[in-house]
Amino acid sequence: MMITYRKGPTMSTEKDGHTPRPTGETSRREFIKVSALGAAAAAVAVSPVQLFAAGQDTLKVGLIGCGGRGTGAASNCVESSDGIQIWAMGDLFGDRLQGSRNNLKNLGDGYAVTDERCFTGFDAYQQVIDSGVDLVILATPPAFRPIHLDAAIKGGVNVFMEKPVATDPAGIRSVIESSKLAKEKKLAIVAGTQRRHQTSYLECMKRIQNGDIGDVVGGQVYWNQGGLWVHKRKPDYTDMEYQLRNWLYFAWASGDHIVEQHVHNLDVMNWSMGGPPVKAYGMGGRQSRTAEEYGNIFDHFAIEYEFANGVRFQSMCRQAPGSDSRVAEKIVGTKGWSNPGGRLEGATPYRHNGRQDRNPYVQEHTDLIASIRSGEPLNEGQRIAESTLTAIMGRMSAYTGKVVTWDFAMSSELNIVPSTWEFGALQTDPVAIPGQTPLV
Ligand SMILES: NC(=O)c1ccc[n+]([C@@H]2O[C@H](COP(=O)([O-])OP(=O)(O)OC[C@H]3O[C@@H](n4cnc5c(N)ncnc54)[C@H](O)[C@@H]3O)[C@@H](O)[C@H]2O)c1
Repeated sequence: MMITYRKGPTMSTEKDGHTPRPTGETSRREFIKVSALGAAAAAVAVSPVQLFAAGQDTLKVGLIGCGGRGTGAASNCVESSDGIQIWAMGDLFGDRLQGSRNNLKNLGDGYAVTDERCFTGFDAYQQVIDSGVDLVILATPPAFRPIHLDAAIKGGVNVFMEKPVATDPAGIRSVIESSKLAKEKKLAIVAGTQRRHQTSYLECMKRIQNGDIGDVVGGQVYWNQGGLWVHKRKPDYTDMEYQLRNWLYFAWASGDHIVEQHVHNLDVMNWSMGGPPVKAYGMGGRQSRTAEEYGNIFDHFAIEYEFANGVRFQSMCRQAPGSDSRVAEKIVGTKGWSNPGGRLEGATPYRHNGRQDRNPYVQEHTDLIASIRSGEPLNEGQRIAESTLTAIMGRMSAYTGKVVTWDFAMSSELNIVPSTWEFGALQTDPVAIPGQTPLV
């Protein structure tokens, strides 16, 4: 089956790349809304949270993208709150879906998936959204996030979506539009930037924003590590299947590792500065992963980000087998500095004791579900779109060798995602070369 997701060229022209709902469900949603309104007005004797907790209503969850993180997120979601059931599942590939089902079966009452509510293929996402769910977990490779988010919000369904949320500026603009629509429709969007729900980070950021390290004058953010998995090509794979089974290594699918992984640390940088930077000036390349199986991504990047007030942050990320790892952030102020994962030094030192802290992968779902049930839905869509564009802007600079401004990146015509989805031939764009790859 061929599905058209976007208008535009079949592949990038630039060289830098990388419901209808069942009637019963409508009334369930109305119940959530009416109960929440009632609670807000203190006009009902029993709050929706109590009703859910008492098992009088259950929040049905659909999983779209049943790989490692999707399976983990579904489990975290069930653990996070009472009255949660995994209801429907969708994946491009039957084997991935079955593996995830085998795992999630252990969730007891939290698992209510039937064969009829399992879907495969490029349109599985729509079938999950239409299956009568209240919330979907979007955990496919990031290239699909804009279209899946758009469908979920238009379908009236709350969203937990993994980071990053797009691989090009066109996708970012789509996510921002969907986030605005979600606000209008009072639907929740929580992103998988779990540091935003982690007590140690929340405590440190509160202190940084309170001025405990003075004015922020700079910082460093890192995601340096060894190698990752590779899925060997099988003779019957089409290009599309091969690239999607190995999505990490194809810039159109993952955004490259600066987007796919380092977005976590760049999000912390933006958090400490109260918003995204205005400029990126970066470099990168590939030296240790040059074989064809590593697609067309770089294996290292170093970017300088500049903010509107002139403050600069250094960012670096690397995936190179055998190299030293460092995954961290450091925020430097006029009166001290902070590793916002738990430590402040200087005029007002602080050490976070995290022994009692909840797992942030669970806490993010607790916060999401409480917000849905209270009728005050969280909406992290714009924020994660901005952090993802921060990473894309760094990649654009490193791929082309040019300084890239925020305004340029936000309005860029760069669209590296295929416009049609079918299992067939798919050309791999050449590896970018700074100074030669054009900035689009
Ligand atoms: N927050 C975190 O700490 C964290 C950790 C790991 C991964 N992630 C993110 O989670 C997402 C998934 O990563 P993963 O490690 O689970 O990868 P994965 O390869 O294990 O899983 C991705 C799944 O999506 C499926 N898929 C691909 N295209 C699809 C489509 N069009 N429709 C439906 N299913 C499709 C694949 O078959 C696969 O099962 C990525 O965005 C990644 O960056 C976040």
